[in-house]
Amino acid sequence: MSTQTFAEKIAKAQDFLPIHGTDYVELYVGNAKQAAHYYKTAFGYQSVAYAGPETGVKEFASYVLQQGKIRLVLTTALKSDHKIAEHVRKHGDGVKVLALWVEDAYSAFEETTKRGAKPYMEPVTIEDEFGSVRMSGIYTYGETVHMFVERKAYSGPFMPGYRAWTSDYNPENAGLLYIDHCVGNVGWNRMNDTVKWYEEVMGFVNILSFDDKQINTEYSALMSKVMSNGNGFSKFPINEPAEGKKKSQIEEYLEFYEGEGVQHIAVATANILETVKTLKSRGVEFLGAPPEAYYEMMHNRVGEIDEEVAQLKELGILVDRDEEGYLLQIFTKPVEDRPTLFFEIIQRKGAQSFGAGNFKALFESLEREQELRGNL
Ligand code: FE2
Repeated sequence: MSTQTFAEKIAKAQDFLPIHGTDYVELYVGNAKQAAHYYKTAFGYQSVAYAGPETGVKEFASYVLQQGKIRLVLTTALKSDHKIAEHVRKHGDGVKVLALWVEDAYSAFEETTKRGAKPYMEPVTIEDEFGSVRMSGIYTYGETVHMFVERKAYSGPFMPGYRAWTSDYNPENAGLLYIDHCVGNVGWNRMNDTVKWYEEVMGFVNILSFDDKQINTEYSALMSKVMSNGNGFSKFPINEPAEGKKKSQIEEYLEFYEGEGVQHIAVATANILETVKTLKSRGVEFLGAPPEAYYEMMHNRVGEIDEEVAQLKELGILVDRDEEGYLLQIFTKPVEDRPTLFFEIIQRKGAQSFGAGNFKALFESLEREQELRGNL
């Protein structure tokens, strides 16, 4: 294990692309109206903004939801020949945009395309009565896009083109605070190129690496590398499948997403016990709890923790420790019928890592689900 802290590692990242954090995550979905209801009801997101025919947008409808600092945008096409419809036909519901809140959207585009990024959207300035937003975009893995959003001159609900969306239905939030990391799955032998892309194009650094010797079960294996920007606000772990006796969860994802894409979004809470209880009561489905032995060995593995092991066991929450502290985490089942995108709920108590000590328990749990689907 390296003796450098994460702070020391990320200090090496280049600052030609100052990022303040995630601006929004946009999913292209088959029915945004119903998806918005699901994210409000099940996860406790609040209605923020809307764009669609009523606001002069003819080709799509888009709902903006928020909880803590997490902004989700759910967008659907209104006609079959639109590129959003094509995206959904191929990939199913999934993440199209990981938008980054930047200091300067024009220079973000210039600096990244100069370093080899494939353009998605040339820089534009859009305006309404609340001010202006400057944005641009580039492709990352698969058909996934990083938008650069600069909003220092804007005070509206989301951005020009959207109007405030108020609803009579406002379920309680579930204590979700911010996006901790967003994980991408890439194809065979694509890890090194993707890591190099984040280093060269985005100025990110690789802060953690796991090979297939470290991440494996009896049946399958994968490799994972975590890329971070200079302030640590944007962390993008990348997974690649590895050879195993049976099909890995990454291969299953690639097959059903029909390409590379976002595997999971980790959202942070300050009280995972309460958050998970709330989410479960509202119908969010989580992966099965690890076996009894996992909790029996917990004290030996992670030492003293503030939470009661019995409570963690009841909810199926996983715990891991690194040099800087510990973390608690749990993973939902995929939120679509295709075994693709899922969410992680994470509470950090000092630890800045990603739960490597839980990988085995997690993947065994995933494999039980894969087996039920006939995909192992
Ligand atoms: Fe994660």
